[in-house]
Amino acid sequence: MIEWLEECDSTNTCLLERARLGVPSGSVLATRKQTGGRGRRGRSWVSAPGDSLTFSLLWRFTEGMPLAGLSLAVGVAVADVIGEGVQLKWPNDILQKGRKVGGILIELIGMAAVIGIGLNLRLPDALPEEVRASAGALGSDLSHEAWLAQLLPVLMDTLKKFERDGFSGLRERWFSLNAHADAWVRILSEGAPLLEGYCRGVDAEGALLLETTTGIQRVLSGDVSLRLV
Ligand code: BTN
Repeated sequence: MIEWLEECDSTNTCLLERARLGVPSGSVLATRKQTGGRGRRGRSWVSAPGDSLTFSLLWRFTEGMPLAGLSLAVGVAVADVIGEGVQLKWPNDILQKGRKVGGILIELIGMAAVIGIGLNLRLPDALPEEVRASAGALGSDLSHEAWLAQLLPVLMDTLKKFERDGFSGLRERWFSLNAHADAWVRILSEGAPLLEGYCRGVDAEGALLLETTTGIQRVLSGDVSLRLV
């Protein structure tokens, strides 16, 4: 079920291909050397060989079930495994001491979700300057295999819980991990300011609840990003 690849352009891309060919739910592809990692909003995910744990998990959901809030649910699972001082930045950045140590990219083919997770164990030398400014690393002595072995059972349990109760069952936990709880934040769309307000958590669909001067606005993740003002 878990396959370690010597090298791979993107574990998400490889697993998406395999998902189309019918590999079962629970299949995992992992690598220490990802050469063309992809992030949210068309960005790339840079990781030097050996510095990051990069893997993707395929999960086949029941036809028709709502998947809103899935990436937040996955964030909760990852945060619970890392423990110590970890926080989540909506929609799905994993922060430690205010720095981004991991990211989540979920891609769907119908009801099959390819859940890609990148975690910086050490900080790659090759990071672009603008990424380095906000990036961090877990600085852990645990091996890639040990991290994966800890993450997978928690992730799978969380996905089963999500299948049963949707995101609403994990919402309180997400609140407690929210890096920007009650802070004044700005929502950017394609780099341009879109909205500002107090971050009042998320609703049962995983939409950000922003208290603006004109009342509460729901922000859907799509192409937006959040900044602390
Ligand atoms: C983000 O923060 O923008 C999401 C980054 C997701 C990176 C992971 S690494 C494993 C998987 N394969 C990819 O190409 N991307 C995800």
